[in-house]
Amino acid sequence: QQDGPLAGIKVLITAGPTHEPLDPVRYLANRSSGKQGYAIADSFADMGAAVTLVSGPVSLPAPAGVTVVGCETAQQMHEAVLAALPCDVAVCAAAVADWRPETQVTQKIKKTGPNDSPPPLMLVPNPDILAELSAPTALRPKLVIGFAAETQTVLTHARDKFHRKGCDWLVANDVSPGTGVMGGADNKVFLLSRNGTEEWPLMGKDEVARRLVQRVVDWRAGGVEE
Ligand code: C5P
Repeated sequence: QQDGPLAGIKVLITAGPTHEPLDPVRYLANRSSGKQGYAIADSFADMGAAVTLVSGPVSLPAPAGVTVVGCETAQQMHEAVLAALPCDVAVCAAAVADWRPETQVTQKIKKTGPNDSPPPLMLVPNPDILAELSAPTALRPKLVIGFAAETQTVLTHARDKFHRKGCDWLVANDVSPGTGVMGGADNKVFLLSRNGTEEWPLMGKDEVARRLVQRVVDWRAGGVEE
């Protein structure tokens, strides 16, 4: 049992990208580094919470005092999240692939000659972990926090996502090329809740994590509405 303002609170965090295999050697992926999600896990652990971090493939060390469950695909992440329930607070910081290849073949897809036509790439949707966690079921965490990584009209897309997903808070950031956010050390975010939208200044991902976790401490103390 840890000490701190969030002692006794169970937190579930998803982080990193997912890899969606086409064959044993190829996959579809995205540029998520996992840094923001790992920083959030670290900050929650510092506050005394019991943290389970469900992580896609990243090259980051496990934060101290955090239970890390590794996974590769969105379907595996979905299963690991369900296995970690119930929890009090869920933070979906992972960049989950929205789609996966319809079929995953067991042998490497071969190119046999220069005139081969490329194989077709058919995609099917992955489970939406955040939307599922946010649905009003008996297992719904008391506070569900989502992320929205956008490359254009960030707030418009983020507001739409906030309502569509059904989460309590949504952290929106601009990941367009040139911002350096994807893979970088800094982040510039908006925090959306039912009370409105806050714009936070550019700061390190560690600082975004600390402020977000402080918000959760305040929420728990009754000082912040969901
Ligand atoms: O991909 P999208 O922009 O919809 O992601 C927004 C939020 O939804 C993020 O918090 C992400 O972790 C979550 N998400 C998820 N499962 C998916 C897709 C996204 O949990 N399949």
